[in-house]
Amino acid sequence: MRTFSYVLDGESVTADVEGDVIVGGEEVLAALDDDLTRDVPWHEEGFTVVPFLTRAEMEQLRAGIAGRIARILTDGGIEIGEDFRLEEYHHVATREPRAHEVLFQGIRRGLDLSTLPVEHGRIEERVGEVLGIPVTARNEIHGLDVFNLRVVRPQSADNNPPHRDVWLDRLRNAVNIYVPIAGSDARSSLPLVPGSHRWSEGEIVRTAAGARVQGATYTVPAVVGATRPLTFIRPDPAPDQFLLFSPYLIHGGARNANHDRTRVSLEMRFWRKS
Ligand SMILES: [Fe+2]
Repeated sequence: MRTFSYVLDGESVTADVEGDVIVGGEEVLAALDDDLTRDVPWHEEGFTVVPFLTRAEMEQLRAGIAGRIARILTDGGIEIGEDFRLEEYHHVATREPRAHEVLFQGIRRGLDLSTLPVEHGRIEERVGEVLGIPVTARNEIHGLDVFNLRVVRPQSADNNPPHRDVWLDRLRNAVNIYVPIAGSDARSSLPLVPGSHRWSEGEIVRTAAGARVQGATYTVPAVVGATRPLTFIRPDPAPDQFLLFSPYLIHGGARNANHDRTRVSLEMRFWRKS
């Protein structure tokens, strides 16, 4: 067990991580791979916050995701009550002890792209426009064709630990998006370390394979230290915006510091369209 700390919301956050740790070599992974953010004006920071879809499309997306989550819960035998709202999901989870496990199992492998409430081609088009590169949400080499929903209850340990997606080979050469769906704000949205996509592997201490953090298991290795300051910011996209970021950036560790609002986000990855 190793305890490490990082700075988030201007405070020091401590996490307990289990597992063997390693430090890599001189290589900078983003420089070796197909870095889709190489030629954008925000390359130095590794992320940008820009307008997303039309208002009507956003409404369709939010309503569709709320309906999807409600269905996963009710199909799993969870009573969600009338007027279910995503921001209030934690009340359901408190009342129904099985709820969070049902939901977690329902979303953990991602959901089929064809079931996204807005046609995924529209999102590919918008991401491609921001990057100036045509992209696809399907990773044909690794057979990935999913979108992800993240549900972080207030004051919970639902969030994954700080990590780089690209420590998993299948997530290399991509660009990621974070779309606020419910309860996403300056105290709950995804944190990242600006510019950390340019750090070499030798500047980061991480778990060798996967991680156990605060008792929960994750497939992606976790950051447990660095030679540079691990200072996270939350870019906090507004309801009509989205966050586009390099998966080579250190991100995650998104504790939801709100007291009575669950945070739900849509997260997707895109690769260069061949
Ligand atoms: Fe990630």
